[in-house]
Order: sequence, then C-alpha cells, then structure tokens
Amino acid sequence: AKKKSILDLVKMKKAGEQVAWITAYDYPTAMFAEAAGMDMLLVGDSLGMVTLGYSGTIPVTMEDCISHCQAVRRGAPNTWIIGDMPFGSYQSSDEQAVDNAVRFMKEADTDCIKLEGGVRIQSRIRAITDAGIPVIGHIGLTPQSSGQLGGFKAQGRTVENARGVIEDALAVQEAGAFSILVEAVPPELTEFITKKLDIPVYSIGAGACDGQLLISSDMVGKFQAFTPKFVKKYAEVAEVETNAYKQYIKEVKEGVFPSDDYVYHITDPIEEFEKL
Ligand code: KIV
Ligand code: NA
Repeated sequence: AKKKSILDLVKMKKAGEQVAWITAYDYPTAMFAEAAGMDMLLVGDSLGMVTLGYSGTIPVTMEDCISHCQAVRRGAPNTWIIGDMPFGSYQSSDEQAVDNAVRFMKEADTDCIKLEGGVRIQSRIRAITDAGIPVIGHIGLTPQSSGQLGGFKAQGRTVENARGVIEDALAVQEAGAFSILVEAVPPELTEFITKKLDIPVYSIGAGACDGQLLISSDMVGKFQAFTPKFVKKYAEVAEVETNAYKQYIKEVKEGVFPSDDYVYHITDPIEEFEKL
C-alpha cells in the first residue's frame, strides 16, 4: 500500500473511514504493522516505559526517540510515521521546539511530530508548523505532565475540567496542527470536540471519533507493569514468549536441544577429522 499523506487522512475523515494506528518502537513491530495494513505508526515516548523499563516518560531523551524512529522507519518504509517529542525537547522555547522537530525529520525520516499540550504550547505548535513540519496535537491525559495531573488519570470528567480540554483542542487546531489525539477523556467529550473541530480527531482511551490508537505492547500483551482500562488485549505475547523460554531452558537442561536437526555435520570423512 502507498504511504498515507495528510490529504488521505482528511479524505478518510470526510468519508467516515476510521484510521487505525498503534505505537511501534522497533524494526519487527514496524514490519508486522505495515504488513498488517496499519494506517499510521507512532514512535511514542512510551518507549521509555515499555522498551526501556522506566516508570514514566520523563527520562526519555531525543537520542532515544531518534534511534527508535530510525528502526521503525527501516521496518515500515511505506507507513506514515509520527515522531513523539520527549519531555525537555520543546518546553524551553519555540526555537528549541523547532530545532528538535527538525531533527526528527532530518535524522529519522519521520512524516510529522506529536507534542503534548494545548493552550500552553500553542506557540510551539505554530512555530513548528511555520517551519513546514506537520504537527499532531495531544490533549486530555498528557503523560509528560502526569505529575501536575496527579497521576495517569482520565481527564474531562467534570464540566470544569472538560472546559479546559475543549480550550486545549481549539488552541491546537488554531495553531495549525493537522490533527489531534485525545487521550483518556469520556466519549461524550470526544464526540463534542470532534463536532467542534475541522481537523481529524483521534482517540486513545477516549471513545469513537475519526480513528483509534493503542500502545502496541499493551494490545499484544507484552507490557505487564500495568494496563489501562481502555486497552483491549488482542494477544498474550508475554505468555507465549515466557513459555518459549521455559521450554528452551528445560530442553537445554535435559539435553533434548540441540538435536540432530539443529547442527551442521562435517563434510569430510571423520578419519580426517580425527587427525586434527
Ligand atoms: O508515547 C505514547 O505512546 C503516546 C500515547 C500514549 C498517546 O503518546
Ligand atoms: Na507520548
């Protein structure tokens, strides 16, 4: 399949066609996703938790993100790839945000970048889009500021809090983002935002809109530290993988592996070898 463009995403919204995307952090996942027909891939800074074992996304660096984006691009050359700007890569200034967004495009061949926040990062989004780089916004539950939110908590469940989420959504669109990701807000609020905005609205844990995102490691059952309520598990990879390791250990200990099928036999007569 041909790589999607911004125009395809707008067309899909108009046609009521859902966009399906997941996160990917490595070459094999990217390959499987592209082969499966995934519409887009996010190299999320969630890589800090699900591939590097941090308890949050704060420690993730630009170097981590670039290197994972490069691996994903190698695995999915024909898929729209979103680079996720890590904490500290856009907080200081518009200039810093542009410089780091440019790095994603130049060093990792991403198609666009994503950054967290609405009203308070509006000038960052505008600066990056002014540089010619497509931006996808991310509002609602924003993991990089989960400390301020009091943890990984659903947002917009009260009228007061929902007002802030709506203001963020409008700020993101107004700043020039081509689409927006809404995380962990009630479906009623997502529906309201989707009607209010012109740009495509995508959901992770936020109900129906123009498309859905899930964290690949969650949906295939590979990340076990915790699973948010909104994750539907489509496989149990941890179980499959752990069982494979158990079986291997058992067979090595019992001398079952390697059997004759798994060795390279000599090609000269054994007598010649005995002279060695
Ligand atoms: O890093 C990530 O995977 C994300 C999703 C949680 C939206 O930003
Ligand atoms: Na992220």
